Amino acid sequence: MQSSAADRAGTGTSLYVHVPFCVVKCGYCDFNSYVVEDRSVHDRFLDALDAELRREWHFGAPVSVFVGGGTPSLLEPARLARLFEVLGRHVDLAACDEVTMEANPESLTEAKAAIARAGGASRLSIGVQTFHAHHLRFLDRAHSAERAEAAVAEARRAGFTNLSVDLMFGIPGETANEWSSDLERALALQPDHLSCYNLTFEPGTRLHRDLQRGQVSPNEQEVDRDQFLATRARLAAAGFHAYEISNFAGRGGPCRHNDHYWLQGDYVGVGPGAASHRAGVRTTNLKAVEAWADAALAGQPCAASAETLWPMQRAAEAVWLGIRRTDGVDLGAIGARLAVPAVQQFTATVARHERAGWVARAGDRIRLTDAGLLLADRVGGDYLAPGAVG
Ligand SMILES: C[S@@+](CC[C@H](N)C(=O)[O-])C[C@H]1O[C@@H](n2cnc3c(N)ncnc32)[C@H](O)[C@@H]1O
Ligand code: SF4
Repeated sequence: MQSSAADRAGTGTSLYVHVPFCVVKCGYCDFNSYVVEDRSVHDRFLDALDAELRREWHFGAPVSVFVGGGTPSLLEPARLARLFEVLGRHVDLAACDEVTMEANPESLTEAKAAIARAGGASRLSIGVQTFHAHHLRFLDRAHSAERAEAAVAEARRAGFTNLSVDLMFGIPGETANEWSSDLERALALQPDHLSCYNLTFEPGTRLHRDLQRGQVSPNEQEVDRDQFLATRARLAAAGFHAYEISNFAGRGGPCRHNDHYWLQGDYVGVGPGAASHRAGVRTTNLKAVEAWADAALAGQPCAASAETLWPMQRAAEAVWLGIRRTDGVDLGAIGARLAVPAVQQFTATVARHERAGWVARAGDRIRLTDAGLLLADRVGGDYLAPGAVG
């Protein structure tokens, strides 16, 4: 019998591989990604990845591998093949349940999808975002709706049976009808998993600057809320399980990698700016590609910062991360795993959230209610607050 995600909580180590290159820098995106014309940088990136993996990966078969970005599908075919060759040199990809690669429609081809598949990728996550040309332009996306549909078809032809599609709602000016037509067009592609993110205005992005200058305004909160609720209703009717606030499992089941992360499992991140978390120690790599590559190729650690979390902080993070999952979190199990009195520590916060109607409690397990789902960031954040952690 297959074990449930909750049973596996905290066991094993996952691997995240960050490919920091993009065709364009989207105006809303604060991920560590760069437009780099000089393709020799890609070769140096692959050399450095090889060196960092040799130094950092000593954990046998990972629970899951996620090759993300940035835009991994931007690598030219020979370099994409080399990426998987490098990974395969250090990690037994065949022994791993889930190997995901992120892909963008403008750069994915059937040949590249076939290379990723042959190299060991078992799951492809394609960033579609929206099917409306004016919203794609607003987001600075480098592809059309038709290209996105073609990319999904190409991935299928290359043999991917586990395909996820990323969409975004809450785009300024987006109407309820536009969003529901995006959902319908995505469902018509018969994805195995869907991620539907509410657009956020991240500090440091072009979109955030436009907001501050008054050149763009976010939609009314009610519009975002209605789109969020419409998403849940439509995807439930289509047979998708909302296992996390923004993530919906179809035939492909949940994303094992993200579930491992939300369940506070250990992970090693390689590549510029990648974060790792092992037994309460969190490190973050140098962000700049050159500085990161210099360190990796010199056989040095690539981490720019390290932080040791004390057990109660880890418990608070476990609640903050895990409460996003539909199953909620078992405070007793978190306490037992981290050897801290989590149930007692969070009693006052849970009681306050119960009174507000944001959280439902059954024994030591708490879950977000429908009202709480709409305030998930705030509710989860309350467990990190100094007063809650003690
Ligand atoms: C960082 S991207 C990497 C994958 C790929 N490059 C792409 O653009 O699809 C992963 C996903 O994060 C989501 N995302 C990035 N920035 C976001 C933001 N500010 N608000 C909401 N979702 C965001 C997008 O849906 C995107 O597909
Ligand atoms: S959203 Fe994706 S394609 Fe756009 S800049 Fe961020 S990582 Fe690159």
